[in-house]
Amino acid sequence: MKGDVALVTGGGGDIGRAIAVALARTAPAVAIVDIDEAAAAATARLVEAAGAKALAVRADVSSAAETAAFVETIEQKLGPIGIFANNAGIEGVVAPLHEYPDDTFDRLMQVNVKGVFLGLKYVLAKMRPRGRGAIVNTASTSAIRGRAGLAGYVASKHAVLGLTRTAALEVTGTKIRVNAILPGPIESRMIQELEDQARERSVTPRRSGGAPYGKPENIADVVAFLASDAAAHVNGAAWVVDGGMTVA
Ligand SMILES: NC(=O)c1ccc[n+]([C@@H]2O[C@H](COP(=O)([O-])OP(=O)(O)OC[C@H]3O[C@@H](n4cnc5c(N)ncnc54)[C@H](O)[C@@H]3O)[C@@H](O)[C@H]2O)c1
Repeated sequence: MKGDVALVTGGGGDIGRAIAVALARTAPAVAIVDIDEAAAAATARLVEAAGAKALAVRADVSSAAETAAFVETIEQKLGPIGIFANNAGIEGVVAPLHEYPDDTFDRLMQVNVKGVFLGLKYVLAKMRPRGRGAIVNTASTSAIRGRAGLAGYVASKHAVLGLTRTAALEVTGTKIRVNAILPGPIESRMIQELEDQARERSVTPRRSGGAPYGKPENIADVVAFLASDAAAHVNGAAWVVDGGMTVA
């Protein structure tokens, strides 16, 4: 996949920024989509500093119209998307199920589930006729285990794994691959926010098994691998990157 144009959603955030910079090592151009325009622009500057062309686009991944539009714009301006890091996501709140706010649950489904679905839908519509491409959906170790206080987030990440496996089956026999990356806790704004909320509410969502937290670059390096030809036979995988947390 060397030489392919890359797209990273949630590219203004901690993990998306690291993915965009990692992909800039081999991609001629990287598009960064984020609902936070300034954050996307900041990542675009880092991508350019890493030697690739960059395009920052403000969009909400939970909107079908906006997703269809940014896929078109990126292909027009940069060329065919060969690598897609379907990464935008939100954390919601920390609360026990019997108090979990309905509107937070709904928004998690819209962004983390429908957003990933729409990204797959509109990018695969472009990739399928070309018969090649690599997609990496950002799930979480919350896709394969429960976490007290995080009902909406955990449900949404389990769904990302279901979408990944379905998409992977649909592209079998082509040179398109769809995988999920499952980060454990990463030193980031998102984990800091969840831990602050958990402390306030005396819930313990963290189950690190003593494993140290990772860095965004630990995730980005594995996404770059999954997007590369070195992973040519990896399709439908749930690739855990957690320092061993989930085996504890
Ligand atoms: N941080 C962790 O420890 C961790 C662990 C496992 C999985 N993840 C997942 O990794 C991904 C990236 O998380 P992060 O830690 O970089 O968080 P982050 O909050 O730093 O980044 C997420 C980015 O997504 C953007 N975004 C949110 N809603 C959007 C929308 N509707 N449309 C477009 N962009 C939107 C945000 O503006 C932000 O820039 C998420 O899917 C998250 O669930 C994170």
